[in-house]
Amino acid sequence: MTAPAAPASATPAGAPIGVFDSGVGGLSVLREIRALLPGETLHYLADSGHAPYGDKTPAYVQARAEALVQALLAQGCKAVVVACNTVTGLSIRHLRERFPNVPIVAIEPAVKPAAAQTRSGVVGVLATRNTVHSPGLARLVAEHAHGVRVLAQACPGWVERVERGELDGPDTEAAVAEHLAPLLAQHADTLVLGCTHYPFLRPVIERVAGPGVAVLDPSAAVARELARRLEALRLRNPAGSGSERFWSSGDLARAAQVMGVLWPQPVAVERLAEPTEA
Ligand code: DGL
Repeated sequence: MTAPAAPASATPAGAPIGVFDSGVGGLSVLREIRALLPGETLHYLADSGHAPYGDKTPAYVQARAEALVQALLAQGCKAVVVACNTVTGLSIRHLRERFPNVPIVAIEPAVKPAAAQTRSGVVGVLATRNTVHSPGLARLVAEHAHGVRVLAQACPGWVERVERGELDGPDTEAAVAEHLAPLLAQHADTLVLGCTHYPFLRPVIERVAGPGVAVLDPSAAVARELARRLEALRLRNPAGSGSERFWSSGDLARAAQVMGVLWPQPVAVERLAEPTEA
């Protein structure tokens, strides 16, 4: 195991921000960061060679997450954004212990705002199997969902669809309808997108759920939290040129093709060289 990286306080404000996910889903977080922090340099790691995380063992996910944080720190990143609910749910405490001097901002399902706004008293959390069974989600529900029923719904297959760029069409709509059905039957009126791949299915989810159902995505809140943390550490870079670089552990041509669909500009994808192997 390599030594933890140098303290972030030694890092200049012009250093990049590192963002990672099991695959392309975290681009839904990256676009919010880009919108809020236009001057920052952003480094994005897609671990598509090891996706999906949703069905892997917690130890595997933790080892991958640690390797990806190491890779971002080796690139000189000043902060790390965990753009993967599965990693947060299973491993965020471990990552913060392992890298105590690194500002780490992590996405988590928007259970708190959902519990505050539901009128039916039933909230649906759409997530991977691992997130559904994670200690992180159990903590969120225990802390923020008093008097509200929270139905955690695993949605196997959705991540793979987004990884293939299948964002709409009859098959995708059928896959979405299959996993929304139990939630809608139990009168959920608020759905939480508890996986960063799912915002790319949002038009289909909203169409299937219908107009009476609110859909919540916490990505913008993650960007705001990142901005607050950087500000507090005097690590904001408002005058930078605002560029992005992308890496993948999967097939590079396929990654470039799918990322080019999900990101507003054409994307050049580099091979992810890892300091450690999971
Ligand atoms: N995008 C990741 C999340 O937010 C998950 C995906 C996976 O199963 O690989 O949970």
